[in-house]
Amino acid sequence: MTALYERDKATIATLQKLRFFPLAVAGGRGARVVEDDGRELIDLSGAWGAASLGYGHPAWVEAISRAAASPAGASVLSAANRPATGLAEKLLAAFPGSGDNKVWFGHSGSDANEAVFRAVTRATGRTGVIAFVGAYHGCTVGSMAFSGHSVQAGATKAEGLLLLPYPDPYRPYRDDPTGGAILDELRRRLEAAPDHFAAAFIEPIQSDGGLIVPPAGFFRAFAQICREFGVLVVCDEVKVGLGRSGRLHCFEHEDFTPDILTIGKGLGGGLPLSAAIGPSRILDCASAFAMQTLHGNPICASAGLAVLETIEREELIQAAESKGQRLRDGLQKLAARHSLIGDIRGRGLACGVELVTDSQCRSPASRATAKLVYRAYELGLVLYYVGMNSNVLEMTPPLTITDQDIDAALDILDETFDDVITGRVSDESLADFTGW
Ligand SMILES: Cc1ncc(COP(=O)(O)O)c(C=O)c1O
Repeated sequence: MTALYERDKATIATLQKLRFFPLAVAGGRGARVVEDDGRELIDLSGAWGAASLGYGHPAWVEAISRAAASPAGASVLSAANRPATGLAEKLLAAFPGSGDNKVWFGHSGSDANEAVFRAVTRATGRTGVIAFVGAYHGCTVGSMAFSGHSVQAGATKAEGLLLLPYPDPYRPYRDDPTGGAILDELRRRLEAAPDHFAAAFIEPIQSDGGLIVPPAGFFRAFAQICREFGVLVVCDEVKVGLGRSGRLHCFEHEDFTPDILTIGKGLGGGLPLSAAIGPSRILDCASAFAMQTLHGNPICASAGLAVLETIEREELIQAAESKGQRLRDGLQKLAARHSLIGDIRGRGLACGVELVTDSQCRSPASRATAKLVYRAYELGLVLYYVGMNSNVLEMTPPLTITDQDIDAALDILDETFDDVITGRVSDESLADFTGW
């Protein structure tokens, strides 16, 4: 434990910590973070996907430095500002659909999803929403109300919330890997209450629920059923959007367009910035209804513009596709050597590795997963785990990660698996790191 970690432990509230090992970051460059004692680690998490351009990208640094030198106010609440307007124009141009759309800006995935939840129920007069078991849409009261993740088991849920099973090809609901049984359930519930549901919140890859890639065609069929009943489809791409999946929008893989899109994390490239894009009849339904003092902050919006421009200029969407393939190919080689690896999945640079104690019965290897990320940290690699069983390694590195860093990360993982299997990580070392 470094000196900085000790100080953090003594001063910063546990309420906002999700710790897996005693990482203390003093700086960063590219896909690497540096601890306060000078040790460098490869960040295969990319700060949970927020560090889309990596750390200290020159275009991002230049954009926020310029914006900070002559700030255009502090938000869009009571004044227009150029960076926020420019970013809204860019996001609208990149969003397919009718064209009658608007953008709402926030600080986080949580506030974007909560604002949409409140707007869809108010604008439509319908009170119910649909979401999925395992979904993590945020950690504000409003966004927790329609999330289905086990970490929020005690949270108050929205009245009339319908949580459907997420289609998981590795653990199929009612033995149907196509998700057909879930679609039947959706139709049945909508027929029983045709005017009740305002919207369905979906994740085109269920992120914190276990980096689950849905079966082909599922969400296209899901959206079709929703439309029959006038239910808006809200696509939460807070973690997997903006190029990470190998497409600008992850829903493009699913061959449908949602009514509303929420994005965050990588949009700000490490600064607090989120957005919702959707029909003006929803996002213009009231004024002063979903706002915070610094929403539409010009420095954060400048960071967002720099992120989008850099993704385009450096062809990072294509890079995400090819680098993600390299990462998954390497993981497949590891799977041949390490029986803990039960499933490897993902799109682009959103990869998940599900760990099981026995590939036949697929029992979650939760304890080994916690030990694995801990040991990886000791060996110089940052990655965390997700999933309702806490047994899925999540890899969402910067889109700028180099092939060399991917290969080096795979080498560290290889050694890590050996060390965990041979018992080199004690139970005591995890005592302070409950993860989730
Ligand atoms: C899909 C998804 N939506 C929403 C959120 C919440 O975002 P934030 O933590 O920025 O509020 C997350 C965070 O992990 C997420 O993965």
